[in-house]
Amino acid sequence: MTVCEAPGKVYLFGEHAVVYGEPAVPAAIERRATVTAEPRSDDHVRVEAEDLSLNGFTVEYAGGTGDRPDVDVPAPLVEAAMGYVDAAVRQARDAADAPDAGFDITVESDIPLGAGLGSSAAVVVAGIDAATRALGEPLDRRELADRAYHAEYEVQDGQASRADTFCSTMGGAVRIEGDDCEPIEAPNLPFVVGFDGGAGDTGELVAGVGELREEYGFAADTVESIGDVVRTGEKLLADAVSEADPSPELLAELGELMDFNHGLLSALGVSARSLDAMVWAARDAGAHGAKLTGAGGGGCIVALDASDASETALSFTHGCEEAFRAELATEGVRVVE
Ligand code: MEV
Repeated sequence: MTVCEAPGKVYLFGEHAVVYGEPAVPAAIERRATVTAEPRSDDHVRVEAEDLSLNGFTVEYAGGTGDRPDVDVPAPLVEAAMGYVDAAVRQARDAADAPDAGFDITVESDIPLGAGLGSSAAVVVAGIDAATRALGEPLDRRELADRAYHAEYEVQDGQASRADTFCSTMGGAVRIEGDDCEPIEAPNLPFVVGFDGGAGDTGELVAGVGELREEYGFAADTVESIGDVVRTGEKLLADAVSEADPSPELLAELGELMDFNHGLLSALGVSARSLDAMVWAARDAGAHGAKLTGAGGGGCIVALDASDASETALSFTHGCEEAFRAELATEGVRVVE
């Protein structure tokens, strides 16, 4: 039995613009998906995921066909989760040259699902890592990240960037620009996450930005401006490379850029009333800055605040279902057992 766990992430800067080749800086957070893989003597795959939906689910299907499983699953969220696990199994089989390998797989996660925190990427990364290790064919991190990206890409019909899967694999902060992905140095930023309990439709939101960009030159400029925010932010991080704890000046400057980034994302139509309410609650409570994280439309915001004020304010904000502090996960995917 092999157990691997991989972190979720927040976008410090750059979601949506990254789809158009601008850089983005996501950062891994200490909320993890844990996947257990136990090889079987047949080619079946049995997936147990008690906490991935309201009621959880267990399914078993015949593996080895390369097709997505045709199983009766109780909800769209579960179907999506099932799709990610299945894609991870297929990547592991391919990597280990074991097309008929069967597994008993268990998935647990404390990352809110589909909320912009990279929950599906964490499941895919931990799943491929656990399954290949269980077959005695562990992958190096670059190949693991690449295979996880292809698994997500397939399930999301080509809508995935490399950001979530690379960040979850490597941990820490990373820089993504097209197919170029590199870990970057970052101090342990005091992230606070607010979650509205919902989730936007990433495909629709990405398509909406694409339409705006085609219709209006200034929307294309807005996307480029997000790229400029990212470039400014990464320079600040690079200059602060020796700081283990971020200085108040760094936090103030990063926060200002996060506010700017949120405004540009709002202009592109991907914020939501609940996200704006949480962003303003955090700012009013004294956060250095706050923005939506991920595709938007609903889901999560991330604020920078070393005090407890934003977390407390968010927990009393109408529309915020959960608020929590999120440490930078300096370690990416790791083996637990
Ligand atoms: C979704 O979490 C982030 C987007 O930039 C899409 C992507 O990068 O795959 C909107």
